[in-house]
Amino acid sequence: MRLLNRACMSSLPLVADTTAEHAAGLVHSGMTVGLGTGRAATAFIEALGDKVRAGLVMRGVATSESSALLATQLGIPLAKLDDVEFLDLTVDGADEVDPRGNLIKGYGGALVREKIVAAASRMLVILIGEEKLVPALGSRGKLPVEVLQFGHKATARQLERLGLRPQLRLAGGQPSVTDNGNYILDCGTGVIASAADLEAKIVAIPGVVGTGLFLGLADKVLVQRGPQVEVHEFTRPPIH
Ligand code: A5P
Repeated sequence: MRLLNRACMSSLPLVADTTAEHAAGLVHSGMTVGLGTGRAATAFIEALGDKVRAGLVMRGVATSESSALLATQLGIPLAKLDDVEFLDLTVDGADEVDPRGNLIKGYGGALVREKIVAAASRMLVILIGEEKLVPALGSRGKLPVEVLQFGHKATARQLERLGLRPQLRLAGGQPSVTDNGNYILDCGTGVIASAADLEAKIVAIPGVVGTGLFLGLADKVLVQRGPQVEVHEFTRPPIH
């Protein structure tokens, strides 16, 4: 886990732009780019589509079926993750960002593919509004956990033993099913004292596929403050 050796925010320049346009400006010819999921990622994919129409040559790796569909509609060429060795950059949204750049993601349900793609990327850029900045993870009170459908109630009981309050995510009165065919348990939390400890305990539970804790993965967080973009940079050991 790349939680250790992290430096804090290294710069706070203000750039007049939108987060999506700023992130699209980081994409150069020949890059393989991870395409996140959610509203912020959608704005990025749309900005990227404009660049592709203007002649940028790149390929994307989608973190969800919905982002793949949008990219295809915009003419962005897609590759499968298993057909690329690494990604140059991934751009995604987040639901919480703490002062060290650790994240909670998954309110949109694509957390597992998002984390796999992020972990295969040389750089992860996160786009948020300032309301997503929190003093500590868990501040918004929810941690999504993707679980197998098989035995999901038993898995939920194990999560309760960790002090979490899991609720099966519903869509239209039925369990919400992820692109991977799994369920989401939205776990009520308070402020999380040790995210790394909690992550280790949750992923040790049989039936858990992955959590929305993204620890030590983000390199840049672009925060929209009114008409301006604030850039928070973090350092992490290289993975490739
Ligand atoms: C998708 O599973 C999520 O991780 C999203 O990236 C996250 O919920 C942020 O989404 P918005 O940009 O829509 O707020």
